[in-house]
Amino acid sequence: MNRYSRIAGTGSYLPEKILTNKDLEKTIDTTDEWIRTRTGIERRHIAAPEESSSSLAEHAARRALKAAGATPADVDFIVVGTTTPDLVFPNTGTLLQQRLDIHGCPAFSLETACSGFVYALSVADKYVRLGEAQCALVVGVECLSRFVDWTDRATAVLFGDGAGAVVLTPADEPGVIGTHLHSDGKYQDLLYFPYGVSKGFDTLRNNSMDGLKMHGNEVFKVAVRTLSRLVDETLAKNGVERGEIDWLIPHQANLRIIQSAAEKLGLPMEKVVVTVQDHGNTSAASIPLALDTAVRDGRIHRGQLLLLETFGGGFTWGSALVRY
Ligand code: ACO
Repeated sequence: MNRYSRIAGTGSYLPEKILTNKDLEKTIDTTDEWIRTRTGIERRHIAAPEESSSSLAEHAARRALKAAGATPADVDFIVVGTTTPDLVFPNTGTLLQQRLDIHGCPAFSLETACSGFVYALSVADKYVRLGEAQCALVVGVECLSRFVDWTDRATAVLFGDGAGAVVLTPADEPGVIGTHLHSDGKYQDLLYFPYGVSKGFDTLRNNSMDGLKMHGNEVFKVAVRTLSRLVDETLAKNGVERGEIDWLIPHQANLRIIQSAAEKLGLPMEKVVVTVQDHGNTSAASIPLALDTAVRDGRIHRGQLLLLETFGGGFTWGSALVRY
């Protein structure tokens, strides 16, 4: 008998502090109207000083486990997608593992910017399918507010903090039908954070860094083009017709990118889960946040066909076709 993985439960978490567009009007030269019109974003959440990616992830993970009817003791595999790890090491997966009081199973993080969750889902799916994991915790989490340059109106209005998680368990039928991952480093200059450990560390040490770099217009164009190709590839590889998709759950970066992807797919916006207005671009956290929101508010039902699609820095991009 074939073995697949299925999403047994979802969870998410947004920090308490909310920063609205009106709040931003007070500190940078922008307007609520500009932000809403160009991005669809209305507010974002900001992690408290004592919070971190692993603590946000813990809230989302516990909620996903509860929804799956599982406990931390059941978890035997942890993968976290994040661009904003607590530390260089230990990795955020292992820090989350410790927070959940789980000991011994593999726990790691991967960094593919906004595509982190879909990449993590793809990896965990393989382990469950191969019989090497029975209860995999898959998390997307970010504390982007930590490295946003809050004086740069071109980027400060876009990003926020949050976490989302799913629990994958084995199933006789898919579940995760297929995942499709891509990346192309030739686009690195369009969107990047210029400081790390082996490069730019002196700037960090001297406390003189500015924020992430983005050519917004170019990112927009490549994202729209690439996501359209990705949708075609996903449908063709899995023998699925456009009309069979019940819900599109896109990366929540910008409402206009989402609308364009829906249009290419021929899907009315009523079949697209949009949460970007409530939390801005939370990078790797955005898809599991949107998924959990729509599961909990009753829009997504068991048995429905979901298309998850993402695009982010690198560039990296990917999709997952999932029977929920
Ligand atoms: N408030 C007011 N005015 C602003 C702001 C702001 N926050 N930011 C820029 N402007 C001004 C610019 O200075 C410019 O003024 P000018 O015409 O006098 O020169 C004008 O608005 C237009 O600027 P553009 O950059 O051309 O605006 P655009 O319509 O491209 O919108 C945006 C910018 C929202 C960033 C858009 O390009 C975008 O969404 N790109 C995708 C980027 C993205 O989503 N990145 C996230 C990471 S990647 C991912 O997750 C997919």
